[in-house]
Amino acid sequence: MCGIVGIVGERPVAERLVDALKRLEYRGYDSAGVATVLDGKLERRRAEGKLFNLETRLQAEPLAGNIGIAHTRWATHGAPTENNAHPHFTDGVAVVHNGIIENFSEIKDELIDGGATFATQTDTEVVAQLLAKYRRDGLGRREAMHEMLRRVTGAYALAVIFSDDPSTIMAARSGPPLAIGYGDGEMFLGSDAIALSPFTNRIAYLQDGDWAIIGRKTAHIFDLDGNPVERPVQISSAAAYMVDKGNHRHFMEKEIYEQPEVISHALGHYVDLIENRIDASAVGIDFTKVTSLAMSACGTAYLAGLIGKYWFERYARLPVEADVASEFRYREIPLSKDAAALFISQSGETADTLASLRYCKDEGLQIGAVVNVRESTIARESDAVFPIMAGPEIGVASTKAFTCQLSVLAALAIGAGRARGTVSPEEEKRLVRHLAEMPRIMSSVLNSIQPKMESLARELSKCRDVLYLGRGTSFPLAMEGALKLKEISYIHAEGYAAGELKHGPIALIDENMPVIVIAPHDRFFEKTVSNMQEVAARGGRIIFITDEKGAAASKLETMSTIVLPNVDEIIAPMIFSLPIQLLAYHTAVFLGTDVDQPRNLAKSVTVE
Ligand code: F6R
Repeated sequence: MCGIVGIVGERPVAERLVDALKRLEYRGYDSAGVATVLDGKLERRRAEGKLFNLETRLQAEPLAGNIGIAHTRWATHGAPTENNAHPHFTDGVAVVHNGIIENFSEIKDELIDGGATFATQTDTEVVAQLLAKYRRDGLGRREAMHEMLRRVTGAYALAVIFSDDPSTIMAARSGPPLAIGYGDGEMFLGSDAIALSPFTNRIAYLQDGDWAIIGRKTAHIFDLDGNPVERPVQISSAAAYMVDKGNHRHFMEKEIYEQPEVISHALGHYVDLIENRIDASAVGIDFTKVTSLAMSACGTAYLAGLIGKYWFERYARLPVEADVASEFRYREIPLSKDAAALFISQSGETADTLASLRYCKDEGLQIGAVVNVRESTIARESDAVFPIMAGPEIGVASTKAFTCQLSVLAALAIGAGRARGTVSPEEEKRLVRHLAEMPRIMSSVLNSIQPKMESLARELSKCRDVLYLGRGTSFPLAMEGALKLKEISYIHAEGYAAGELKHGPIALIDENMPVIVIAPHDRFFEKTVSNMQEVAARGGRIIFITDEKGAAASKLETMSTIVLPNVDEIIAPMIFSLPIQLLAYHTAVFLGTDVDQPRNLAKSVTVE
């Protein structure tokens, strides 16, 4: 949700700021802007739409200046117009903001009563207006910043420059992440370390409530009371990541095909492949002492959690409470102190997931985090961190992070079962062998199903609605299939438990709505086939995703049957993810949507 960057430099910054914004475009891409200080004046260029438009604007109207801030926006308050694009200016103050100022309306009324006029519909403008007012009232820059921070509530990562100070950026954090980069004679600020990776790998993360004065050579960091605080400078590994599409048309395609490789890395961290055991030292929670598990996440990560719930209940015999984080955080769930809590988040910054984590922490629970970004806030606030090692995921629709989350959850569930004595050493060996086979099977599936998925996608791209059905772990997978399709192709899709079909959705079945049934030949197969019969009897068109045994066992006529290899139940969700990802991807490609940056979405959701 919005990306911000800043540079206090020794040479012109505008081009470098835009370069850093490109690495943050996953956080929002409906408008962008950059501002610098030049000869005692603030200058800015802003543009509606993708960053490319801002670059074009800057080519036509270059921006000089050795200090500057920049922003890529995901609109919360006010339409994504150029006028509402950041940086916002008021009387010598420029501000970029990620988050929501919750009391903006009260502050705005107060400022308007005092004679202020507002130029935008954004919540952010109150920050610039407040700072300008405090300056007019006679406060210095530092005092004005401190006063403003005491006045605003909500979530913010802020960067501020003043026209009368060509050598300082002020920054503040309450909620969304903010990293300070230490260069040689230059200093940097960004929403994450990847944005700063071309400039420096020496990074300090602001903590919640911190604010900072960043000069050309160093940064002074304070807590909300104004007391100086130290934040360690760490060496970030972000620079090591290659962030390009390789030979693929889209990041999403590249990330789908990367899955066998990244899952091998992830498994390498959790599994002892010589002994065929889960590496107990990687399971940082003592599951022998835990009586239940609370799980919370959003979107695709939540659906990974739902699949994990089936595994923890089955293999570790642990009752699991799983909910979307936006509900979990407000449900006032009575939690036992003997429970552990697990939060799943690719970015590690999702606001609702973080709030759920803090709720559980306040309740005294042991906190584990399944994250991709190890330096993220969720990782830093957890007792045990379970990295999914997927590498940067740039496509907004999650693919490789999902299957890596699943792989890690599977390993943890087996490890928990082993620790609790509900999985025998022989069963552990058997399950681990299946996990170890997964990357090879994934590669062969990816190589074989592509042409079929492409031609099926051509058919799907003509539809208005699609229903996905599954039972057991294939139920959350059905929801994930529907989520993937709707978010990148904009075709309406729903995922249902196959057994729920007759309780409502069956009314939708006709010859126009394809029903995608995900059914490996597992314990639920016969029952799912009965539900397919119900669809067929009503003229529904079935796309059947099954395995060799399932294809042989089912006698039903389908619109198409995708046959995957027979695999064990523990790895079926990861293998069956591949056709649903490819189907969504190729459908979106046929429809010509912006696959990597679908409309209205952002990769990192740091507001509720
Ligand atoms: C969908 C998708 C989102 C994210 C969700 C949580 O493809 O990617 O639904 O899964 O926004 O994000 P993280 O995992 O960063 O907490």
